[in-house]
Amino acid sequence: MEPAAARRVLLCSVCLALWCLRCAHGLRSSGNHEWEKLIMVQHWPATVCKEIENNCRNPPDYWTIHGLWADKAEKCNRSWHFNFNEIKDLVQDMKIYWPDVIHSEPVLSRFWKHEWEKHGTCAAQLDALNSQKKYFGKGLDLYKGLALNSMLEKFGIIPSGNYYQIADIKDALANVYGVIPKIQCLPPKQDEEVQTLGQIELCFTKDLQLRNCTEHGEPEARRRGAWPAGVATGLEVCKDGPAFYPPPQETKR
Ligand SMILES: *[C@@H]1O[C@H](CO)[C@@H](O)[C@H](O)[C@H]1NC(C)=O
Ligand SMILES: *[C@@H]1O[C@H](CO)[C@@H](O)[C@H](O)[C@H]1NC(C)=O
Repeated sequence: MEPAAARRVLLCSVCLALWCLRCAHGLRSSGNHEWEKLIMVQHWPATVCKEIENNCRNPPDYWTIHGLWADKAEKCNRSWHFNFNEIKDLVQDMKIYWPDVIHSEPVLSRFWKHEWEKHGTCAAQLDALNSQKKYFGKGLDLYKGLALNSMLEKFGIIPSGNYYQIADIKDALANVYGVIPKIQCLPPKQDEEVQTLGQIELCFTKDLQLRNCTEHGEPEARRRGAWPAGVATGLEVCKDGPAFYPPPQETKR
């Protein structure tokens, strides 16, 4: 072979090899839906309404489920569509404990569809969660098992005009559950003195056992909420110090 031709062949081989590498890498990263822990996310409806400056009508006066999320993975199977029929039996409970807080006239199941497609399809890697019925059913079970509302009450942490220290809330939860939770707040707006308690995350292993939300010594990362596209969210990890735990709007009698 002439030297020039040989160089061309060599060059082509190198290009091909590089292209193959990239291609393989692309496949790997697009198929990488690995995660380590499940996060049971509960939110305080009055804060959710405040966050989006929505006049929610009669927000629940108890903590409700935001979602059951896999950390580090989202939208793991775009062809696994939400199917309302699969969770029909759960709807009564879902309306109470997993309601769409932000839409005052919710399209039934819009929120659940979003949660399933974004988070459920990842959680479904576990046998215990590998159908929509299991995913939402287990979410409800975990929520009921945690009984966050009554636990907070037991420690005298009830919605009020007084402020609570974040450390006290954290200690109470760590005491009850034996693990470190993650607590999120709405930062103070211009005219406000303190942050507002908004969301509590409790984490589970893939065996559905409670575990710390943070690794030992790991700083708490800021994490944004995960509302459907178009809805701004301002929750971040609470700062040490006081927080407002707002009573629900007094529209209910
Ligand atoms: C995605 O979901 C579809 C529908 O349930 C299923 O047939 C398919 O096996 C899933 N793909 C993966 C990679 O899990
Ligand atoms: C959870 O966090 C606490 C406090 O930082 C620590 O003492 C404990 O060892 C952690 N547990 C695990 C399983 O890492």
